[in-house]
Amino acid sequence: MHKINLVLLTLLCLLLTSCGKTVSVESYAIVPEPVFLNSKEGSFMLDKKTRLYFENVEQNTETAKYITKSLRKMHFRLSLAGEKTKNCIVFSLNDTTNSEIGDEGYLLEVKEDGINISANTETGLFYGFQTLIQMLPEDISAVRYNKITLPYCTILDYPRFEWRGCLRDVSRHFFSVSEIKKQLDLMALYKMNKFHWHLTDDHGWRIEIDKYPELNSIASFRVDRDTIPWTEIEPAREDEPRTYGGFYTKDEIREIVDYAAQLHIDVIPEIEIPGHCAEILEAYPEFGCADDDTVYHTQISPYWPPRAILCGGNDSVMQFLRDVMDEIIPLFPYEYIHIGGDEAWKDNWKKCHLCQNRIKELKLKNEEELQSWMIIQIEDYLSRRGKRIIGWDEILDGGVSKEATVMSWQGYKGAVNAAAHGNCAIMTPTEFCYYNFYQADTNHHPTAMNGMVTLHKAYQFNPIPSGLNEEQQKYILGGQCNLWTEYINNEEQAEYMLLPRFFAMAECLWTPLDRKNWTLFRSKVERQKIRIRALGYNCGVSSFKPILTTSIADRNTFSVTLDWEVEGTQIFYTTDGSEPSRSHGQQYKGAFTIARGATLRTASYLNDTLREEVYSFPIR
Ligand code: ACM
Ligand code: ZN
Repeated sequence: MHKINLVLLTLLCLLLTSCGKTVSVESYAIVPEPVFLNSKEGSFMLDKKTRLYFENVEQNTETAKYITKSLRKMHFRLSLAGEKTKNCIVFSLNDTTNSEIGDEGYLLEVKEDGINISANTETGLFYGFQTLIQMLPEDISAVRYNKITLPYCTILDYPRFEWRGCLRDVSRHFFSVSEIKKQLDLMALYKMNKFHWHLTDDHGWRIEIDKYPELNSIASFRVDRDTIPWTEIEPAREDEPRTYGGFYTKDEIREIVDYAAQLHIDVIPEIEIPGHCAEILEAYPEFGCADDDTVYHTQISPYWPPRAILCGGNDSVMQFLRDVMDEIIPLFPYEYIHIGGDEAWKDNWKKCHLCQNRIKELKLKNEEELQSWMIIQIEDYLSRRGKRIIGWDEILDGGVSKEATVMSWQGYKGAVNAAAHGNCAIMTPTEFCYYNFYQADTNHHPTAMNGMVTLHKAYQFNPIPSGLNEEQQKYILGGQCNLWTEYINNEEQAEYMLLPRFFAMAECLWTPLDRKNWTLFRSKVERQKIRIRALGYNCGVSSFKPILTTSIADRNTFSVTLDWEVEGTQIFYTTDGSEPSRSHGQQYKGAFTIARGATLRTASYLNDTLREEVYSFPIR
């Protein structure tokens, strides 16, 4: 092209982008689905003249600053109005409490004179604002718009559960401060409010502790085997340098806690006791059992069983734990500290004379009770300092205090037992909530922990175990997804595993059960993917294996329905054993029948491309 034309074209592009685009939002696709959403005829136009007005909210509160800053980041530089006028986005704190929306809910209205968001608390306003962001075009973070029309609507919204969490394991692999902040931003956008930070485990200790410097100089680092799949790992040699690892300094912890607070997210640190502690025993072997001569190392691969355990009969171990808690407590200004308690292999305790002496002295029945004794000691110490504990469901095995909260991961039974005894529980059963498991067929996805939680499965999660009466159900605080990172060694992969299942978790924890709708959710996922990709997140690929439901039609025939995870998927199938494709077999349009003993074969297409492979389902 001629040089002068190129310059003119560039100028024209610059002019057009600085003017911005005009867009009309046709419908809303909010995740999690609000409690009540009623769209109406007519629309309001957001433009350069729209003003921001805070009513009853100081402009220098964290929430007001966050809202102003976020709008600016989206190129929406709305000026503040000195008074409430037409064409305003008004954020107001209620003078009188609206009991329907509680502490986290909000009311949002789009009408002819503007947008009103009201709430009882700043948290409610914050969530109302997150909804407003999701009402704007999906690419709002990347594209400059100067006119956006929004359909009139009324939204009334509040969460189903108070605990809406996400765990990140930073021990198996370490993630930087900015990567953690990126996860917190994602949580805020989807109204998640508890960041469970798994800070210590066999593969690395990740928090600065002044009194025990070798936790950081030794236990935070390991030999680097990240270029080799963890399943094929070579053991570390004694002379190999330890180049993989890191830990968060206390200043960095405070930085993240402050950042999370602005996003209305609590940070719950987990310090694992008494098991999953190979890294501690490498740095301080004296905290292991007296009669165990194993030399422990900060682990470099998944290993099983996790035999490393802190000695339950050694007073200096209890002192160590109290000292560590003394440094943890001031960093995390929240109710809870998670003390682990899972998968503590007790073989060493059975052989250790100190552990056995403690069991005799305290007239304990067995090693499970010794674990309970240790945990109750620490719980006591923490409760005198205003903290409560959470532990994985194994803490129930030797008995727990009434105040302990149980995190139920081995199915629902931990929570059922906890609730029956009057203990609170948080649900994270592996079957639905372990996002380190594959999300689709293993042949088509990067290596992950052995297990499968598809998007559809993730969406079926109901935190309330069946069989609890109404009173017991009140002990279920909510749930969370867990991102264990044995097979996740970078942020891009972490996001690939979290998303899009994270949308499912947000909806399972916020939206009332009777407002959940898989088909609607599936279509919203596509629009949310555009939104988060525009924000720089990596998103996983869901399963293309059809979800099959069969029922007996008559003695020799089954009725089959197929479902799919990705909006726009077309399924072609055969029932005579031949290979289906776009040009061979039937396109699935609804339930059909198939003879007992036949094989259903399916081919899923998206945008004219075969996805994954042809699947076969023997029908019996
Ligand atoms: C766990 O997955 N071991 C809590
Ligand atoms: Zn011992």
